[in-house]
Amino acid sequence: MSDSTRHYDLIVIGGGPIGLSTAWQAARRGNRKVLVLERYGFMNERGGTSGAERHWRLQYTQRDIFALTLEALPMWRELESLTGRKLLHAVGSLWFGDTEVKTNEGQISGTARAMDEMGVPYEWLTRPEIEQRYGFANLPGHYEGFLQRDGGTIDVRGTVSALFQLSQQQGAVLRAGVQVTAVRPDSDGVTVETAERTYRADKVVLANGAHANDILGAWGVELAVGLYELPLVTVHQRKGEPERPFWFAFQQPTDEDTNLFYGFPPNPWSTSDDLRLGPVFEVDGLEHADASKGLPAPRQVERVVDWATAHMPWVDPRPAELATGLAMLPKDPGRQFFLGNAGALVDGGENVVVSVAGWGFKFIPLWGRICADLALDGTTTYDIGRHALVPSATPGIVE
Ligand code: BEZ
Repeated sequence: MSDSTRHYDLIVIGGGPIGLSTAWQAARRGNRKVLVLERYGFMNERGGTSGAERHWRLQYTQRDIFALTLEALPMWRELESLTGRKLLHAVGSLWFGDTEVKTNEGQISGTARAMDEMGVPYEWLTRPEIEQRYGFANLPGHYEGFLQRDGGTIDVRGTVSALFQLSQQQGAVLRAGVQVTAVRPDSDGVTVETAERTYRADKVVLANGAHANDILGAWGVELAVGLYELPLVTVHQRKGEPERPFWFAFQQPTDEDTNLFYGFPPNPWSTSDDLRLGPVFEVDGLEHADASKGLPAPRQVERVVDWATAHMPWVDPRPAELATGLAMLPKDPGRQFFLGNAGALVDGGENVVVSVAGWGFKFIPLWGRICADLALDGTTTYDIGRHALVPSATPGIVE
């Protein structure tokens, strides 16, 4: 390979959904050499992209993030129409529980106010209505919530394969099995080292999820994140059950964990009656992504099974399959994501864009667009101020 072929306009590090979306959005502008370097294989399920489905929702408590979901929607529609593949399934998004509980995902009462302001329709539901309509049992008397009908589930594998296809069609070069060992920005561009060779790029997008701090650590910088291996518990739905929405139960935390549970209905794009349940317990954080075992902690599975046994008579609560998903969440619950230019972190950092952490799957086409904007134009019209990478008072830490 000659030296000139090692120079790219944009190198994307990480070939998961954010990386592929960035490559697609950058390459489709034309006339740009875009390279994606993926440490494992494309469409792997090792990082945060495990499992079949993710929650699609419009509603957020924070108005700026809410607006981003509305902006992501037409981009999902474009992705669907370009690939002839349905990716968003509007089975509904049901949030119920203690309406005042504040969680990383938001708060029911605050989110209802935000939907009123943003003109997004929803139906407010009392506890008896939630039980009668959706079959939940024995919910505490004060629980209430809402159904937002446009929400539902996202086909994860369909999305990643759509982005793989589109980024290749647009001419992005996709390389698997390449581990990046160093990223060195300077005022003219960025040097990217791998075990085999050295690349040079005008710009780099760091979309390597749970491995982001491996690269940033060499700059003396660390994003303040917690890494959690969250259980995904597959159970069988009983025969002849009606279609249900995605649901999220907001509950007061216990001494042990956040006490938050969610569940998908059986996937509309599969014929199986299996469905997945999970908790969002930010406990037992991992030191590093490589420490993930792929199997959930037995106590956490027991908590999910107990919840299903008490409240979900339409499933057989015995786990049919166990898996985990790696969640990298900013320690500051108000932040939600790290998305922005690294100019404030290191000399030459203005040539590096970072997009990692948070429950970001619902934003995938938009996050790719924003990363491409930031890398190729140096700016974006989308409101991402909240997600900026600004060093905190603690040296080297970005909170
Ligand atoms: C979300 O909507 O962002 C979400 C849903 C379930 C679990 C975690 C996150």
